Amino acid sequence: MLGITCFCNMFDIFGLLSLISSLVIPVSVCIIAGLVVLTPVFICAARNHFKNKKKSCGEHASTVAFFHPYCNMGGGGERVLWCAIRAIQTRHPAVKIAVYTGDLESSPDEILNRVNQRFNIILPNPVEFIYLRRRQWVEAKMYPYFTLLGQSLGSIILGLEALFSFLPDVYVDSMGYAFTLPLFKYIGCCRTACYVHYPTITSDMLHRVSQRTVAHNNRRLVARSPFLTAGKLLYYRIFSMAYSWAGRCADCVMVNSSWTEDHINDLWKCPLKTHRIYPPCDVNDLKKLPILKQDANKKDKLLKIVSVGQFRPEKDHPLQLRSMYELRQLLPEDLWERVRLTFVGSCRDAEDEQRMRDMSDLCKHLSLENNVEFKVNIPYEELRQELKESVIGLHAMWNEHFGIGVVECMAAGLIMVAHRSGGPRMDIVEEAEGSRNGFLAESEMEYAQTIAAILQLSASSRENICTAARASVDRFSVAEFETGFLRTMQPLLSNS
Ligand SMILES: *[C@@H]1O[C@H](CO)[C@@H](O)[C@H](O)[C@H]1NC(C)=O
Repeated sequence: MLGITCFCNMFDIFGLLSLISSLVIPVSVCIIAGLVVLTPVFICAARNHFKNKKKSCGEHASTVAFFHPYCNMGGGGERVLWCAIRAIQTRHPAVKIAVYTGDLESSPDEILNRVNQRFNIILPNPVEFIYLRRRQWVEAKMYPYFTLLGQSLGSIILGLEALFSFLPDVYVDSMGYAFTLPLFKYIGCCRTACYVHYPTITSDMLHRVSQRTVAHNNRRLVARSPFLTAGKLLYYRIFSMAYSWAGRCADCVMVNSSWTEDHINDLWKCPLKTHRIYPPCDVNDLKKLPILKQDANKKDKLLKIVSVGQFRPEKDHPLQLRSMYELRQLLPEDLWERVRLTFVGSCRDAEDEQRMRDMSDLCKHLSLENNVEFKVNIPYEELRQELKESVIGLHAMWNEHFGIGVVECMAAGLIMVAHRSGGPRMDIVEEAEGSRNGFLAESEMEYAQTIAAILQLSASSRENICTAARASVDRFSVAEFETGFLRTMQPLLSNS
């Protein structure tokens, strides 16, 4: 205590503060100047280092590396990764494939076994795994504030680790870490490509901030204050400029759907090198199901409608129930009695279960309980059986980005009634007469009228639609993906 008082007496506290502040400015100027000078020096040195390394390798077979830090996850993005690798290995056996991964706890054999079990994919040639130890830098939970910026800077750190661990000829970012592209292009002198499932920032996000709407990317505090909103808008604008510059560093851009394509064209503005390659869906098995020849005039058969989807709010089960209510008014009583709507889906948590119970209450309220049933968490075989016995598939989610469930129903030979928005409208359902492969609807009345019309179609028109639907889902098949992917990558793979 005594010591501190003495200290204060000796050096007047204000003097100390002014001493510190007079130091802060020159020190920070030095740091910034150092960075400004050292960064280009570092980039040039690294670039030369990698250039020489490339030359000395000379005639070796070329290498392609995929940046996929979560390659053991087993989701849709991973199916794209492994299908892409299999396609290159099959067409270009001499090309060496490497995968940058952060799955330190899984050995290469474990990863490949899981790929085989999960996706039924066996790779013809070995893959080299490059393990990265700094994956935590790209995890959202590291950055409670400025998450976008934090994750992007983190991906640069992870990208640098990747670049210094292994230098490929062709670099492919398959997880949407666009900021790694300039590293490999300008420092590593690689040819670069990326496959985008989802843009990191979208115009919708900017829009929500400027409208001051509270959302998962916009806290209440920010939405309420005009000052914070302006700051956040500036941050988003600068970020999207940087993102768009990074994205344009790719020599070839692939996107997974029309929705993503629209956003990427909006941001990156390089439509000539942007290609839409739908991800591979496994539709072959469902296409083997026989098409149901159901005659509406046969008095005893059930007319089954199926709706596949998790019990999540955006799937809009209430809209589907209200459509059934309207349908009842449109059909003669004996026909209505044979109509059955089955909801097939999974409940992930207690909230989903509550939602499902609310739904069956709504059913009773609309007195539909004899015509609607729920099948929760059923095994795949039973779902397949359900698809086999149904005539119509129902989908009601607004603005779904794609709608793989819709594709699967069409592959199984069902006539789809899907929501007139998002992926079903842009990518999947074709309504022009002559090439019709399904139907779109928006309001409950429209849904009801469409279903009634389908139930009254002649057997031959129904079969025409089913056949068209089945043929059209080939656009989303594995074979179509492989052809498209190889065609797009060809310029990068050849003359290396
Ligand atoms: C593209 O990726 C996004 C994000 O994973 C997904 O929501 C969408 O369904 C995908 N599109 C296709 C065609 O699979």
